[in-house]
Amino acid sequence: MRILVTGGAGFIGSNFIRHLLAKDPDCTVLNLDKLTYAGNLENLADVEGQPRYQFVKGSICDAEFVDEALGMGFDAVVNFAAESHVDRSIQDARAFIETNVLGTEILLDACRRRRVPRMLQVSTDEVYGSLGPRGRFTEQSPLSPNSPYAASKAAADLLAHAYFHTYRLPVIISRSCNNYGPYQFPEKFIPLFITNALADEPLPLYGDGLHVRDWLHVEDHCEALRLILKRGREGETYNIGSNSERANIDVARLVLRGLGKPDRLIAHVTDRLGHDRRYAIDAGKLERELPWAPRYTFEAGLLETIRWYQKNESWWRRVKDGDYRQYYHRTYGDLARPRPQSG
Ligand code: NAD
Ligand code: DAU
Repeated sequence: MRILVTGGAGFIGSNFIRHLLAKDPDCTVLNLDKLTYAGNLENLADVEGQPRYQFVKGSICDAEFVDEALGMGFDAVVNFAAESHVDRSIQDARAFIETNVLGTEILLDACRRRRVPRMLQVSTDEVYGSLGPRGRFTEQSPLSPNSPYAASKAAADLLAHAYFHTYRLPVIISRSCNNYGPYQFPEKFIPLFITNALADEPLPLYGDGLHVRDWLHVEDHCEALRLILKRGREGETYNIGSNSERANIDVARLVLRGLGKPDRLIAHVTDRLGHDRRYAIDAGKLERELPWAPRYTFEAGLLETIRWYQKNESWWRRVKDGDYRQYYHRTYGDLARPRPQSG
């Protein structure tokens, strides 16, 4: 299998590439990433130089470039490329619309013209909106996105559905709950809280801290995506989650306990605008059809993740200092836009 992964220098994409290369000895991967602030090629330093892995810098919003890349011939495209942080979308939604909506449409269209046999659109449970104290999102739940980020992802899902319905583009949508694990950019809740706690800095907990997220270890997400890519049904949507609902304040306390730090580091701060109260995913369809089951319990996965950040302090320090941005130039030189190469 020749697979094009877009957004592969980010958190989930880089874990996915490593997972795929390890699990499927016959696959080769081209990683196409714009390298926004969230793209970090250090995440893939251990696979750099492997003959089955290649990187090319470029944007999914660049139609000519995407078409040229797809012209190399791929068995599948997996689209992780996105602006992914809700708080940034509340500050300014424009880049979210450009990449998540327009970029996805450009990719769908190129896949259609180049007759790509399979495309996986990596989406999110946030497209369903917010839950009350009971119930879980199923694939039939109505789309009701609340943040500009979620709205842009919902728009991309609708476009993917339209391309399947209109052109029979063989596209599948996956909707995962919140991920955590190695290489997550420390602006997101869990890595921010771990790295702040390690530096004895306050953990900024939004509002009353009773908002609930359903947590999935990134390795479990990657295996679900690998199976969906292999055996998922075209035109279908699959929820991905592991029944690990936790209130934010409880996660914050677990992080502090895992590091032997005091609860007084928790600082209640002003709530996020329009903050969704609760997410919870019903992944029954995926578990029955593929089948798939998560391997991590939240407590074990969180502890392993805490240990990873402890061991990899230089990685997250370079992210926080901005030094990680030099890696691309050191490795690939200063080419403005390298062309995709075959092989
Ligand atoms: P991330 O922000 O860590 O990585 C995004 C990657 O996309 C970066 O490498 C960035 O450089 C790249 N990118 C951004 N704009 C691009 C463009 N125009 N062209 C090419 N590359 C571009 O995100 P993540 O947390 O790894 O999420 C990956 C995908 O999974 C996203 O689509 C997100 O919506 C979805 N998702 C994330 C979670 C989560 O908990 N993190 C949960 C469910 C779904
Ligand atoms: O549900 C899947 C989504 O999960 C993905 O689609 C998004 O890309 C991903 O960013 C994530 O969105 P959230 O908004 O749920 O994740 P975040 O890590 O930003 O926040 C998790 C919870 O923690 C949320 O209730 C807000 C809260 N929070 C977050 C930050 C950054 C805080 O209390 N303090 C913080 O500093």
